[in-house]
Amino acid sequence: MVGYAFMGAAHSQAWRTVNRVFDLPARASMVAVCGRDEAKVAAAAARLGWAEAVTDWRELIARDDIDVIDVCTPGDSHAEIAIAALEAGKHVLCEKPLANTVDEARAMVAAAAKARAAGVRSACGFNYRRVPAVSLMHNLIAAGRIGAVRHVRAVYLQDWITDPQFPLVWRLQKEKAGSGALGDIGAHIIDLTQFVTGQRITGVTGLTETFIKERPLVSDSSGLSASAGHATGEVTVDDAALFIARLDGGAVATYEASRFATGRKNALRVEVNGENGSLAFDLERLNELEFYDATRPAAEQGWSRILVTEGEHPYLGAWWPPGHIIGYEHSFTHEMRDFIEAVATGADPTPSFEDALQVQLVLDAVARSDASWVSVAT
Ligand SMILES: NC(=O)c1ccc[n+]([C@@H]2O[C@H](COP(=O)([O-])OP(=O)(O)OC[C@H]3O[C@@H](n4cnc5c(N)ncnc54)[C@H](O)[C@@H]3O)[C@@H](O)[C@H]2O)c1
Repeated sequence: MVGYAFMGAAHSQAWRTVNRVFDLPARASMVAVCGRDEAKVAAAAARLGWAEAVTDWRELIARDDIDVIDVCTPGDSHAEIAIAALEAGKHVLCEKPLANTVDEARAMVAAAAKARAAGVRSACGFNYRRVPAVSLMHNLIAAGRIGAVRHVRAVYLQDWITDPQFPLVWRLQKEKAGSGALGDIGAHIIDLTQFVTGQRITGVTGLTETFIKERPLVSDSSGLSASAGHATGEVTVDDAALFIARLDGGAVATYEASRFATGRKNALRVEVNGENGSLAFDLERLNELEFYDATRPAAEQGWSRILVTEGEHPYLGAWWPPGHIIGYEHSFTHEMRDFIEAVATGADPTPSFEDALQVQLVLDAVARSDASWVSVAT
């Protein structure tokens, strides 16, 4: 694994857990983790359960006893690490968004296609697909339970940079992150809505906004927390992105991604309205799925709350008895479960780099759509 901070910790927990919960055709062995600071990566290896620590990811790729490279670094290094790993015959799991630009994502897809021909697999870490209630939403829509999808309504809202004194961390720098709220959290709802509906976005128009254009430089940082120094620098990404879209199955959609939604910490909500019913998911209630079945007799219609903890619900047969709820980190265990099973059985894990490139193309289209903004006449 490369990178050991926020996603590194989440992935480590999943790699530690996955074979203890799921019966799989192969076992994950946590061979080595890479970071740039020798002392810090050694401490992280001990804390997270990795046997060894190294300071250059190329060392991991050169080793014969490593089969999988898990990329948990900021977007500016995804393409270089993933392409080198695939060329060396390593299966790759890469965090989202796949890359910082469409060109990088296309190069990663080309490397993945070439590697696939040699039996080497790759996938992108859109973990919210693996929340059981989201998987169930996908299954119900695919089974036709709400009929043709008309509307998709998706928001992903955070508030961790509303303070103008919050420093200029990597997520606020275009050269490190590619974009701001758009690529960080907007990418999640693009993938999630395309996954649950089985439809792809074909066109968008939207806007992005950067409310705070200058911030103090970082003096110390770790994950999403950081302290500020005195000098300032320019914020080069969006703080918020809003767009509307058309999907290829005839649905229309609205999306909102913001880091300025005061009071909303990690509020991901998706509602899908179909000709025969609706489904709604809220990450703050991740064990639940709301279902409105318009085929029931009129007198019995109403929103019902499915508690998604039954053994027959996706992934849940391996966990606890019904009603014993799970949390955020389980989505990563499920991601590793599906990845290991695909690699071990010679199948392609999902979402593929091609799927993730398509998300990147949507991000790019939203960023460019500002140009078609129509001013209101005065
Ligand atoms: N799936 C999700 O829900 C989710 C959530 C958060 C972040 N992410 C994605 O995960 C990735 C990492 O984000 P994060 O929040 O973990 O960031 P982070 O800042 O918490 O951690 C980044 C890690 O990468 C390391 N790193 C950076 N460049 C490196 C290099 N060249 N070699 C080795 N290590 C290097 C840093 O030292 C750090 O350990 C990003 O692509 C981000 O978009 C996904």
